[in-house]
Amino acid sequence: MKSKASQALAIAVLWRAGRNVGFHSQYLGQAIPDDALEEATHHKQALIEAGYAAELVQWRADDLQGMCDELGRGRYDLVFNASSLPEVAFLEAAGVPICGSGVDLVALDKAARKKLWVFHGVSTAPFVVIDADSRASGHVVPISRIGEAWQPQPPLAFPIFVKPVCGRNSSGITDDSIVEDAASLARQAGLIIERIGQGALCESYLIGREVTVGVIGDPPQVLPPLEIEYNQARANTFEHKKDNEILHCPARISSEAMQRVRETALAAFHAVGARDFARVDMIVAGDGRPTVLELNTFPGLQILTGDEEHLHASYIGTMAMSIGWNRASVVRAIVEAARRRYADRLDPAGGGPKT
Ligand SMILES: Nc1ncnc2c1ncn2[C@@H]1O[C@H](COP(=O)(O)OP(=O)(O)O)[C@@H](O)[C@H]1O
Ligand SMILES: [Mg+2]
Repeated sequence: MKSKASQALAIAVLWRAGRNVGFHSQYLGQAIPDDALEEATHHKQALIEAGYAAELVQWRADDLQGMCDELGRGRYDLVFNASSLPEVAFLEAAGVPICGSGVDLVALDKAARKKLWVFHGVSTAPFVVIDADSRASGHVVPISRIGEAWQPQPPLAFPIFVKPVCGRNSSGITDDSIVEDAASLARQAGLIIERIGQGALCESYLIGREVTVGVIGDPPQVLPPLEIEYNQARANTFEHKKDNEILHCPARISSEAMQRVRETALAAFHAVGARDFARVDMIVAGDGRPTVLELNTFPGLQILTGDEEHLHASYIGTMAMSIGWNRASVVRAIVEAARRRYADRLDPAGGGPKT
């Protein structure tokens, strides 16, 4: 039964056009149907079904004062699913309570997160970042240095997988992302640098089953790991993600491997200080050992109703349904985790309804 307290919570679903397709459409140089509004509408409906009051608010980068007036003056108790760094940075600066990870994590690129995992003993592939000469400093290798004679420093070795260092949704990832030599590495990294304007994260190509794991709530709960079986593709590329995947939930791995996968997902979540929800992608080798590819701070959550035009089913939604959850259960777990964090502001009387 819906609680009075949850009914009283006013939530803004903040959405940004192009959130899922922006980078890849830059990479291809062509427009890709944008599902951001459909996704946000899904979240809004799910929140209403969970007993909250929810409204859509579109992110307007050119009207920060207006955003501040709309979101920062107490009209909403909580903002749901701010989808990338500028929004999270803005909301935190404006003191607006948000669902999901904070700017300290969201601002970290994939390479920085990998460094944290190494420190905390979470297995992740060896890598190097290659970027435009003008941006490359410190440990980042300037692209002009990748001549034919260039060799990766062990333990990094060919074949290498090349992807944007701040990508999402398999942007910039095709079957050409797997490279066998320095010339192809320079070509793929160059495409990412030129077309997406980011560095290229180049890591050992991992062979095994691809498994992704939702972590949600407070205390964080691990959802049943989901396996993505490739259908012809050699990786979960942008094209492949659209409709060719074969999903298995739970993943087809031994119970020992399953235990390791669950522990690894939780360890990856805690090592970077993720909050409320995240999805951890990994490759599980033949011996059952998982290696973490990345952690998604704002993964898709949708569970389709059948009326969607462009929106695809989400991995977390599929995991959640396998344990009998619906879309309201998914967003409720997230909102209640965030609510606990802001308890002194949202439930000052110690858990009672907001007045
Ligand atoms: N090192 C790697 N070895 C093998 N496959 C990889 C590797 N890195 C990424 N991939 C493939 O590319 C896909 C997207 O990479 P990922 O790191 O999850 O970035 P994102 O999903 O943010 O675009 C993965 O789901 C996987 O299929
Ligand atoms: Mg991924």
